[in-house]
Amino acid sequence: MRIAVVGSGYVGLVAGACFADLGHNVILVDNDERKLAALKNGQVPIHEKFLPELLSRHRGNRLTFSDDLHEAVRASAVIFIAVGTPPTERGEADLSYVESVAREITGAVDDYKVIVEKSTVPVYTSEWIRKIILRNGADPDSFDVASNPEFLREGTAVTDFLFPDRIVVGCDNDRCATVLREVYAPLTSGKYYESAGAIPQPDRTSIPAPIIVTSTKSAELIKHASNAFLAMKISFINAVASMCESVGANVNQVCHGIGTDSRIGPRFLNPGIGYGGSCFPKDVMAFRAVARECGYDFRLLDEVMRINEDQRDRFVKKVRSALWTLRGKHLGVLGLAFKGGTDDIRESPAILIVQALMQEGCKITAYDPAAMDRTQEVMNSNLKYASSAYEAATGADALLILTEWEEFANLDLRRLNDELKYPIVIDGRNLYDPEVMAANGFIYYSVGRAASHPEGVPAALRNGTKKA
Ligand code: UGA
Repeated sequence: MRIAVVGSGYVGLVAGACFADLGHNVILVDNDERKLAALKNGQVPIHEKFLPELLSRHRGNRLTFSDDLHEAVRASAVIFIAVGTPPTERGEADLSYVESVAREITGAVDDYKVIVEKSTVPVYTSEWIRKIILRNGADPDSFDVASNPEFLREGTAVTDFLFPDRIVVGCDNDRCATVLREVYAPLTSGKYYESAGAIPQPDRTSIPAPIIVTSTKSAELIKHASNAFLAMKISFINAVASMCESVGANVNQVCHGIGTDSRIGPRFLNPGIGYGGSCFPKDVMAFRAVARECGYDFRLLDEVMRINEDQRDRFVKKVRSALWTLRGKHLGVLGLAFKGGTDDIRESPAILIVQALMQEGCKITAYDPAAMDRTQEVMNSNLKYASSAYEAATGADALLILTEWEEFANLDLRRLNDELKYPIVIDGRNLYDPEVMAANGFIYYSVGRAASHPEGVPAALRNGTKKA
């Protein structure tokens, strides 16, 4: 099929590359000249597994880049809108980019086109896109507007796209649904997975991908409600972790006990320093705002956000209670990205904690396997960077773990201990077993679990820890 994808951000770029891998001819449209030039030159602007392979496989043949929206729409049967929907000051989604694309598309709608919103948008956006296109003079029978929310996660975006739990398509008539079924047929029929160059199937995925066809409004709600539910799951377990800390229970055991109930499930039950990224914080806020506008006061979401913020404050308090005063303390920090496997630092709880600690006068040396360049662009120059986890720990009064990178869960603990000035680790992601840390000589604090200390540590140094 001939497809245009408007917007080469995270979703647009991954979707465009994956559609090309499914065998479609894709034009990726963006008005950022520098970005387009970089993409045409073979650069990959985001850190995402398999994306470089897909881009180099299809660039210049099944995947082309353009700044000419009009021509791309003319040449395509399906147009995916994947432009940004940043939050406004009031927490609503700013839909002005979506609106301007809808307006610009109008003149190019000649024969039948399906216009698909793929950006995360509030309910009613499809209706508005349709109104804008009609208002600008398009023939009502010459197009349909559909909603096709994307559920990919950063770091595993390509495999999430190609091996999805489900594909959700919101259409208000059969003609449009047929076109979208055809777009995804290689995944829903299973044909893609048999092809020679197919990306390998990850564990815990099942193929072929199921497709769920709903009304456009339901599809729009599915996207916001899914993200809000996952954020709620994280805040819920973080609140339970705080309870565990109060009573001396172990949140890992509690998670295991809760998560084995198949109605609840174990995923997204990892406690920590709260959720971040470009999606959950923005989407929970936007869903809250759209609910209010639709006449429903969704106060549960306020609490989800409050617990999330609280989680960062609790972590800073933990650092204070381990080190007493903070001014002038040297801290090693592992992790700046909002989660492991990405260089994205948007709304990263790690960055927010680093900023809070620097404001308290801490001197910080940080290491992140992918996010240091991006951090350097936005952070004050007092933050120092290390070239490894061990270097970040060298001479530090304590080491903080703020991002769940796999490499941080597999450190040489003896070596780490030797590097630190004091063997104190405050782990915001629960990457280690408290007993193992104590056995390796650390005083170790984590989230929702009793702190631990090695045998023989004087009582005055234990500060709320217990012998492993
Ligand atoms: C999220 C959703 O998971 C995707 O399904 C969705 O498509 C995407 O938003 C979007 O709307 O575009 P993403 O933001 O890439 O994906 O990252 P997640 O893996 O969901 O993690 C979000 C945050 O929650 C991270 O800060 C992570 O550290 C945190 N998290 C996640 C926890 O604190 N605990 C968990 O158990 C899981």
